[in-house]
Amino acid sequence: MPAPPHPGARGSVVARLRAAGCVFAEDEAAALLADAPTAEHLEELVARRVAGEPLELVLGWADFCGLRIAVEPGVFVPRRRTGLLVDLAGDRLRGAGRRPVVVDLCCGSGAVGAAVAAAAGPVELHAADVDPVAVRCARRNLGPLGGRVHRGDLYAALPAELLGRVDLLAANAPYVPTAAIDLMPPEARDHEPRSALDGGPDGLALQRRVAAGAARWLAPGGTLLLETSRHQAARTAAAVGAGGLQVSVVRDDERDATVVVGTAS
Ligand SMILES: C[S@@+](CC[C@H](N)C(=O)[O-])C[C@H]1O[C@@H](n2cnc3c(N)ncnc32)[C@H](O)[C@@H]1O
Repeated sequence: MPAPPHPGARGSVVARLRAAGCVFAEDEAAALLADAPTAEHLEELVARRVAGEPLELVLGWADFCGLRIAVEPGVFVPRRRTGLLVDLAGDRLRGAGRRPVVVDLCCGSGAVGAAVAAAAGPVELHAADVDPVAVRCARRNLGPLGGRVHRGDLYAALPAELLGRVDLLAANAPYVPTAAIDLMPPEARDHEPRSALDGGPDGLALQRRVAAGAARWLAPGGTLLLETSRHQAARTAAAVGAGGLQVSVVRDDERDATVVVGTAS
């Protein structure tokens, strides 16, 4: 019979995590202990974390907007800052009076779609990603919510029946400039697929395509929410404006989050 972790294991786990540079060693140790039914399993999880694997991939889940989102190796780990996009979506959709159509484009794990559904009440939820690993993971998270996950290149993945019907289009497309990827923390650089990070030479290659295509898919009065960074926001906003939408930019310093909002007329 495998032995459960020793009651005194917490101290040594915290010390090992701290020595490995984990800033939130106490919290991480608590999460690892809670998820490890046996001493052997705990040792495996701690060894992976100490070797530099992101905590969320070690655990197999991420806390995003208070939800437990399944994440798998090879899938982007949802970031706290993306909660701004979810908050803005909730503000726009709550009390819509009917079941709004929501699309989570470049969905990764489907965290955004899941959190928007939780914030806004019943929605017709679609998500899409080009990466089959992400699509599989998003189906785990969104299937139980009745969400449909499509695979393909941006809008090419979506069913034509959604043209002109989307009330809310949320996109956290890759926006890291190619040359900046090497400067990212090793947790992201070494454990997340490059295709989830790389936004091309100036970081805006995917965003420009999202912005250019949005108006065709949005319903009248529908909203595009496009995550970006503070220093890219003006260029992201210009791309959304060039796509024929009315533009504003929302910034949240506390989360270091920036979202460009585009509204269809
Ligand atoms: C920054 S991650 C965001 C994932 C998720 N929305 C989140 O916030 O956690 C970007 C995602 O875009 C996907 N992606 C990259 N290029 C794409 C494309 N051409 N079409 C669709 N998805 C794409 C990647 O596979 C990745 O899952």
